[in-house]
Amino acid sequence: MGAIDITERVKKEGESMVKIEEERRGEAEYMKGVRHLYDTGVTKVPGRYILPAPERPHIVNCGDTTSTHNLKLPIIDLSLLHTPKRSIVLETLSLACKEFGFFQVVNHGIPNEVVQEMVEVSKRFFGMSYEERAKYMSSDLRSPVRYGTSFNQIRDRVFCWRDFLKLNCQPLESVLPFWPSSPADLREKTIAYANGTKSLFMELMSLILESLGVDKKFLAEFDDGSHLMVVNCYPPCPEPNLTLGMPPHSDYGFLTLLLQDEVEGLQVQYKDQWVTIEPVPGAFVVNIGDHLEIFSNGIYKSILHRVLVNSLQNRISIASLHSMPVEKVISPAAELVSASRPKQYMDTDFAAFLEYISSTEFKKKNFLESRKLTCTREQTIEGQPC
Ligand code: OGA
Ligand code: NI
Repeated sequence: MGAIDITERVKKEGESMVKIEEERRGEAEYMKGVRHLYDTGVTKVPGRYILPAPERPHIVNCGDTTSTHNLKLPIIDLSLLHTPKRSIVLETLSLACKEFGFFQVVNHGIPNEVVQEMVEVSKRFFGMSYEERAKYMSSDLRSPVRYGTSFNQIRDRVFCWRDFLKLNCQPLESVLPFWPSSPADLREKTIAYANGTKSLFMELMSLILESLGVDKKFLAEFDDGSHLMVVNCYPPCPEPNLTLGMPPHSDYGFLTLLLQDEVEGLQVQYKDQWVTIEPVPGAFVVNIGDHLEIFSNGIYKSILHRVLVNSLQNRISIASLHSMPVEKVISPAAELVSASRPKQYMDTDFAAFLEYISSTEFKKKNFLESRKLTCTREQTIEGQPC
């Protein structure tokens, strides 16, 4: 090998070392999340966030948050429950759960200041330095507090444009010491909000059981049920048509109560189209999760939804996910299984779900699909797919 060859080789190796080092540094940057990318002035979406072309959103007015396909969800006004309109409220609820899997709730009884203060303290949490936020990073899915980016930053092939703070809220007294200690009022504001959403969840579940014709004694199962709060932060994104805040997914629990700020972004699948849910000030967007679809034996639907990002505004949303205690087995309610409507899902528990998401890339409705029984009752071996 001549002297020139060696010089060439050393040069090439040097270049590739630089490239690896750049990639490693780039990788370290993604791991810090999108708020960090935004704060450091990113002007292009890094490759790791770019979705394959068929999975990209088709944003009509890129950057502008007004979209053409907006959907007004059925509104459930809880103040009407004590009036002669009660039966109409229940009918609207039942129809919404069958047709959309989503509805909005107004006059829900959670004081406006509790809601506003939760949004405000969430904004202050994401406004803190990266180092402060990073104290709560954890890859343990069972940890009482988890800060991170995308869905599962260890496994996701393509990252999504969101950072999150996940707070386990059950049982409050034992998880509280793990919650962030700054901002100093975060715990106090979050407790008030968590108590409010838990009561609202119980009230909605009571109505849902009534609308399904299922005995209300089942409600007691939720007294110490699982309660996870997810604070989502979607910073402005320089190229919002290349990525998503959250890819299409369904939620795992019975109900999710979502509070979105005034910036739109949530889309649900309706009649094979993605439609945007217009924020209604002070309202909660509520959706049916996989567990309720299973419990209702498929009468109520857990619908795919996703989140768009935009180039101008930061967006905050707070999702409260409620279900039964993690060790409980969920199966279709006895009242909803009959000869004409055989059991359509396998029994499932939370552990099975956690196992599922830790082993697979979390995508679409795979989990629910994996619990579906596609055969007739006669062929079904209890709890087993056939
Ligand atoms: C979720 C979710 C929607 C949003 O947290 O599961 O779907 O608008 N959030 O942030
Ligand atoms: Ni969701």
